[in-house]
Amino acid sequence: MPSQPDVFVLYERAVQSPAIHVELFQQLYGETRPGKTARRLREDFCGTFAISCHWVAADEKNEAIGVDLDPVPLRSGRERNRTRLSTAQRKRLDIRQENVLTVRTGPVDVIAVCNFSFYIFKKRAELRSYFAACLKALARNGILVLEMSGGPGMVETTRDHKQIRRKDMQPFQYTWDQKSFDPITHDAKYAIHFKLRDGTRIRDAFTYDWRLWSIPEVREILEEAGFARSIVYWEKEVDGEGTGEYVPMEHGTNDYAWCAYLVAAK
Ligand SMILES: C[S@@+](CC[C@H](N)C(=O)[O-])C[C@H]1O[C@@H](n2cnc3c(N)ncnc32)[C@H](O)[C@@H]1O
Repeated sequence: MPSQPDVFVLYERAVQSPAIHVELFQQLYGETRPGKTARRLREDFCGTFAISCHWVAADEKNEAIGVDLDPVPLRSGRERNRTRLSTAQRKRLDIRQENVLTVRTGPVDVIAVCNFSFYIFKKRAELRSYFAACLKALARNGILVLEMSGGPGMVETTRDHKQIRRKDMQPFQYTWDQKSFDPITHDAKYAIHFKLRDGTRIRDAFTYDWRLWSIPEVREILEEAGFARSIVYWEKEVDGEGTGEYVPMEHGTNDYAWCAYLVAAK
């Protein structure tokens, strides 16, 4: 039997765009702190810390700290992503197997939370204490960047299949499975499945048990945690189509499924 591929490789190829995120974080930092460049990134819930690796490779002055509780994705990241870096780049990368609620790092310019990972905190008090810990870890000009998602398309019970084609591997199918949504608690359960070219299915390769927070709730909690302001970056649209460019907005279009970035500043 051929050995099953590393699910983290499939995940990265299907879901992540680390180079785009590195550029976006510099844009968000430069627009929030005009004339300044971010150098120290902390990638919370980093998994295989693909973004941190791109960050340290992007500039010789860049440093990154990746934080994740789970040794399994961290090992995959060490074996693949970290090994691709030069010795000098590796020296500027610090990977911690720790809880984001208690990790001590700092001071950093950007704390980034991608893939809606803070949705694991289901209670307001818990989310507030996480934001307060982030505020403490930020440098004077630091920013917290939260990737958020929502819209009717995130609460429906549906499955979305996508064929993933990348140069260096066999094509495979990625399925985003929206298993359930509770309108009273906003508990939302999702999963990722893969189907390989040889027919092998990897069901529930990743599962998520989240609270689907709304943007106004999160902005209020950031304020309660002590952040001075928050800015919503919404995707710019031309003729009803997303352009991939994010701009500050105070009102958004009621898109079927949206992804937005919340920037919180001291
Ligand atoms: C949705 S994955 C995100 C992976 C990657 N950051 C991305 O953008 O695709 C969530 C990750 O958060 C980690 N995690 C969950 N709770 C955590 C906590 N309290 N502290 C640190 N990591 C945590 C999990 O181990 C998992 O690797």
